[in-house]
Amino acid sequence: MASDAVSLFPAPDISSHGARHVAIIMDGNGRWAKKRLLPRVAGHKAGVEAVRRTVRAAHDLGVECLTLYAFSSENWKRPEQEIIDLTGLLKHFIRSDLDEFHERGVRLRIIGDYRAFEPGAVALIEEAQARTRDNRANTLVIALNYGAQDELARAARILAQQAVRGEIDPATIAPGHIATLLDTADLPPLDLLIRTSGEQRLSNFLLWQAAYAELYFTDMLWPDFDKNALMNALANFKARERRYGGL
Ligand code: FPP
Repeated sequence: MASDAVSLFPAPDISSHGARHVAIIMDGNGRWAKKRLLPRVAGHKAGVEAVRRTVRAAHDLGVECLTLYAFSSENWKRPEQEIIDLTGLLKHFIRSDLDEFHERGVRLRIIGDYRAFEPGAVALIEEAQARTRDNRANTLVIALNYGAQDELARAARILAQQAVRGEIDPATIAPGHIATLLDTADLPPLDLLIRTSGEQRLSNFLLWQAAYAELYFTDMLWPDFDKNALMNALANFKARERRYGGL
């Protein structure tokens, strides 16, 4: 909880779903808008409403860490206006919702190279991360200009540099070592990866972290996602038997 705030929100109902870290590929904003004969930006706006609902729900349901894929390193291929719209919505979201999240004790973390966005957005992101850094109730991770292959290439580069300097022996490089060099190093292991809109692929999201995550695909379009949808995904997760390669 934010140390300087008196909470208006009850302590989270830590249920028995057992998912500490849930990640979501928020897909289907464009199709949601198209079905309503609206411009794509209307779908993204409705997508932000779903983000708001889902962050609140994750907090209420005791999900320790929620990671949302908001902008991939491949999304730069979209029309310039759509990139401007998405950046504007992100800025607006931080400005309008940060107080509430801070009050709930939510820590905001960004993964991916957010410094590629325009300076106003970068400043806002850094301010929001700094303000919520010590919050402990749960963590909202937003992936911005994130790509898992890029994240792994960056880790490989660091290891190669350490090896060239003679600081490590390449023969000793182990998975645990690589994990400490990823953007998610300080986050709990990924338990559940949700993708909306009926597509069934990972799209360069958390490829390493998803090694033993349970995957959950729903036909629901992202703007329709809500607490009930998250509860359904968590109930489905709870029923899975996780064996991690064992029997
Ligand atoms: C995928 O839908 C969605 C995105 C690429 C952007 C997700 C962004 C938001 C929900 C809003 C901003 C985020 C935050 C955290 C404030 P799509 O456009 O690919 O949909 P389609 O596949 O139906 O065209």
